[in-house]
Amino acid sequence: MSHDPDDEVPAGAAVPVDMILNGARRHADVPTNTMLLSLLRNEFGLTGVRGSCERGVCGVCTVLLDGKPVASCSLFAFDVDGATVETIEGQRDGDALGPVQQAFAECGGFQCGYCTPGMIILTTALLRSEAKPNRDEIRRWIGSNICRCTGYEMIMESVERAAETLAAESGEPGEDPDTEGEEERS
Ligand code: FES
Ligand code: FES
Repeated sequence: MSHDPDDEVPAGAAVPVDMILNGARRHADVPTNTMLLSLLRNEFGLTGVRGSCERGVCGVCTVLLDGKPVASCSLFAFDVDGATVETIEGQRDGDALGPVQQAFAECGGFQCGYCTPGMIILTTALLRSEAKPNRDEIRRWIGSNICRCTGYEMIMESVERAAETLAAESGEPGEDPDTEGEEERS
C-alpha cells in the first residue's frame, strides 16, 4: 500500500489506485470515499462481486486481498493500492468453471446464488491454506458468510468436493479428512 495515511488529500479529491486484479494490472483514479466494492462493480464492471449489508457483517462481498478474504464493502479503494485482488471473475478456468465453482454447481451449494461468489472466494482461500479441511474447520471457516436459503450442509459438501477435485488435480490421494486413519471395515 503506497498511500501514507498522514498524506493530506483534499476532500473529494481522486487518488490513483493501481492493483493486480484477477492477474491483470488495473488502474483507476477514485475519490477517497470510494469503497473497494464500488470500485470493482462500478468502475471495473465486476458485478459478480455482490453487496448486501455493506457493513462488513454478511460476507457476501468477499474478495481476496493479497490472498486473504476481506469484505470489499468495508475497505476504502485507495487502501488496495499496490495489492493483489481476486474476485469471482478470476475463478474461471479459461472458458470453463473453475474447480471450486464446479463443485458448488455439482453439490447444489446455492439456490438464489446471491451469497455464492463470496462463499466460493472464501472456499478458495481455505483450500489454499488447508488442502483437506475437516467438517469442523469448514464450518468455522464459512461461518463468517451468511446464506439465507441453501442451508449450510450442501455448502459444506461443495467445499469437500472442491477439496477432492483439487487434490486429484494435484496428484494427492484426497482422503476424507473425517475418516482418515480409520481401519478399513470388512
Ligand atoms: S456486503 Fe460486505 S459484508 Fe455484507
Ligand atoms: S444461496 Fe441464496 S443466500 Fe445463499
